[in-house]
Amino acid sequence: MSVDASTPTTASEPGGEGYRTFTLGEFSFRRDEYFAYIGWPTGSHVMSVDAFLRAMQRDIAWDFFYGIVNFDGIFGTMNHYGTVDLFAGRYSDSYRKAELDYSENIESGIIREQFKAILDDWTNATFDPFASPHETGPAFGVKNGNNVAAITRRRVAAARMVNVPGDEELRSDENGHPVNRMFRDVPQDEPLVEAEPGFEQEVAAFNLYSYLARSQVTWNPSVVSVCKDSLFCPTTEEYILPVIHGNDRVEWFLQLSDQITWDVEDRDTGAVRSRVVMKAGDVCAMPADIRHQGYSPKRSMLLVWENGSPELPELIASGKAPTHPVEF
Ligand code: PHB
Ligand code: FE
Repeated sequence: MSVDASTPTTASEPGGEGYRTFTLGEFSFRRDEYFAYIGWPTGSHVMSVDAFLRAMQRDIAWDFFYGIVNFDGIFGTMNHYGTVDLFAGRYSDSYRKAELDYSENIESGIIREQFKAILDDWTNATFDPFASPHETGPAFGVKNGNNVAAITRRRVAAARMVNVPGDEELRSDENGHPVNRMFRDVPQDEPLVEAEPGFEQEVAAFNLYSYLARSQVTWNPSVVSVCKDSLFCPTTEEYILPVIHGNDRVEWFLQLSDQITWDVEDRDTGAVRSRVVMKAGDVCAMPADIRHQGYSPKRSMLLVWENGSPELPELIASGKAPTHPVEF
């Protein structure tokens, strides 16, 4: 069932264990000590609350990202860039066959504000949803304070390139970005730039490995360079990508260090398509019709290369552009 609710009601009221309950259109959300419970007119779902909050944090930070953000195999959002579908079971073959799937199209601002309110109320003082499990305390238990500083971190998004005048400053010890425990062996020297007189404002370089070694967050691509629609979005990864991302365009992955294993499934049915093991130096293209989730046993560095063109989803959906970038 699909509902077009352009101005859905949102509400929030006190619930159990000190947490608030929320509604967003016909969806309801409540948590207890361990779990997040999601309800909709034709069904209900339960997730471990740490996984739910990690996924919610990414969906907000990325402003619903490209295509689909599956919190797990059942619940998630699909971005229409202005409006968002909030869905349950829509990309699960069995839910669809049993007609338990449900979806509502909601204006992005409304869903964004209610998601922020849920994340804020349900994140305890001990929990950092952006951090690796090893670098955060528990998400569990009765309501215990909040962690506004962690959940409102600003995502780095350069307009041209990090370190170019006017763009984001470099990460350093001085501005509160120490080298992560797993990247102590990464050289910290910066490149020497010798610009011709008059070009000092135009030529810049920085040590991307040093920069990434200082990232405090995991699975949160930051935009470090922009050339028209070509966006370099490197990120540091540890443990599991908290969402199963359903692509609406091709993405390139360059494994800059260590190793990530990717489970790749059909975007619409969840049928297994492949497992990709990426070692340092490997490059791959993820097709536009898949969904994927990565596993990183050590903190690793990954460069996600995105084509940010707003025309791509329609070109691909209508068959005018292919779902894969290369014909072998
Ligand atoms: C992706 O879905 O392509 C993705 C998302 C977040 C990451 C890496 C890859 O950190
Ligand atoms: Fe992706």
